[in-house]
Amino acid sequence: MSASSESSARPAYITTPIYYVNDRPHIGSAYTTTLCDVWARAMRLDGRDVFFLTGTDEHGQKVEKSAKDRGMTPQALADENSAEFRKLLGPFNLSNDDFIRTTEPRHESQVQAFVSRLLASGDIYLGEFNGWYDEGQEEYITELRAKELEYKSPISGKPLVRATEKNYYFRLSAYQSKLEAFFAANPGFVRPAGRFNEVLGRLRDGLQDVPVTRTNFTWGIPMPNAPEHVIYVWIDALFNYATALGLGDDKGALAKDRAKYWPPEYHVIGKEILWFHAVIWPAMLMALGLPMPKCVYAHSFWIRNGQKMSKSLGNFVDLPTIETFFTKYGVDAWRWYMATQGPLGTQDADFSDKHFHEIYTAQLVNTFANCASRTSSMIEKYFGGAMPEAETASMPVSGAAGAPSWSAFTEATAKKTLAHYEAFELAEAADAALSIVRAVDLLINETAPFKLAKDPANLPQVARILAACAEGVRTAAVLLSPIMPAKCEEVLAAYGSGGVGSGGMVAAARWGGLKPGTRIAKCAPFMRTDPPAA
Ligand code: MSP
Repeated sequence: MSASSESSARPAYITTPIYYVNDRPHIGSAYTTTLCDVWARAMRLDGRDVFFLTGTDEHGQKVEKSAKDRGMTPQALADENSAEFRKLLGPFNLSNDDFIRTTEPRHESQVQAFVSRLLASGDIYLGEFNGWYDEGQEEYITELRAKELEYKSPISGKPLVRATEKNYYFRLSAYQSKLEAFFAANPGFVRPAGRFNEVLGRLRDGLQDVPVTRTNFTWGIPMPNAPEHVIYVWIDALFNYATALGLGDDKGALAKDRAKYWPPEYHVIGKEILWFHAVIWPAMLMALGLPMPKCVYAHSFWIRNGQKMSKSLGNFVDLPTIETFFTKYGVDAWRWYMATQGPLGTQDADFSDKHFHEIYTAQLVNTFANCASRTSSMIEKYFGGAMPEAETASMPVSGAAGAPSWSAFTEATAKKTLAHYEAFELAEAADAALSIVRAVDLLINETAPFKLAKDPANLPQVARILAACAEGVRTAAVLLSPIMPAKCEEVLAAYGSGGVGSGGMVAAARWGGLKPGTRIAKCAPFMRTDPPAA
């Protein structure tokens, strides 16, 4: 079916960071990708032409070293760990449109093409770097830090030496005022706002040119004009957002139909990699004459029982741990917790088994599932499982004075939910959609159809109440489906509705989708489970 309007058919591009292959997937990477998936699904439901990209970042010294330690080639290590990230997509129900790997020829050739363009324009130049060097660590140390360390290596204790290295540099300093002007004109470019302020603060210290090549290792994309230099992993990685669409391919063979997706609506990232995305990447795009992304959304971190997750503490919520949650609560409960309780703001969020269980029980079992289950059971009991015939569109949602009609309330709620999804306010979108479920619950509690049904004379009234409840459940399931695709499908199937519908999110949720006589099967999408051991 075609989309509801011209504007809702607009292309929509969203990206995750590409994940390092020297690490295994864990809650952090799964979190960012899940957020993007929710947004991608919401926009698809609204009829947008979505391109959702994720992938792996495979070059650099760390990968080269890990591979050496394990007695394998860097490519073999990259293949092995990239596959781990790819394996995650199915079980988490992630609907990405492509998975880019920085060791793929399509990426490498375009990075070289982009870099050649920047060399030609003078934005990349050969320069000499002179600084304090830790020979044991093969690492340059800033003047400030060298002073703090009393000019000695923090690892070996040996004196730092002055070293000189010829490197290629990106002329970031030339973009200071252009970036300032762009940021001033686009106050929503970095979100949340608190993170934007951090960037602006650091920008005031002034920008220096950044090295874009290395010569002390080889696992990277060779500099096109000087293959003894490899392109610095961060520069290589940032280009993925453009190479996946084929934008660096001068011949156009790789572009397919993807150029239309540029610029991205959201680059979703964690807070620790904001500078690269908010400053270096936009400057590179300016140098290349490519339009700016609309928003860099930098979320905060999941922590574990109040502590930062780290390898040394061994407290990572890793894939095996996540699988125990899938087994106990199901993947959609996991997605719900990620989307509604995660660190989308400037504060880190604590992941605790107890809190997970509380949210699951309160919002999914006692609210969403209970409502779907109560309504379907009563329709089964009083109407033989068929959607009752009754006029409900003009029925007030509650007995409160001035309460809107069901059709007006759900239409306004669908619009509100869509606006929240669009703005990447996923917890607010979830809450708006769930407000329909709460209204259905209130209606049942206020009118007690199970009591009314004892007198056959009341059946027309019971029919009207339950028809409104059923349509409310359907509407909520449509709006919640980007977060919980499988469970919402299940509810919609039980409610005899052929999927989420089309024509845009608001149209799919429009009152009156369930026709009288439609078979409504009993369903209970989330079951009560035991609390975790304390
Ligand atoms: N390869 C770079 C990104 C290049 S993008 C052009 C990188 N990779 S990473 O594997 O370290 O992934 C970092 C991302 O993982 C973070 O930006 C964030 O999205 C996610 N997370 C890692 N740990 C996290 C938490 N504890 N909590 C939430 N997300 C975090 O950096």
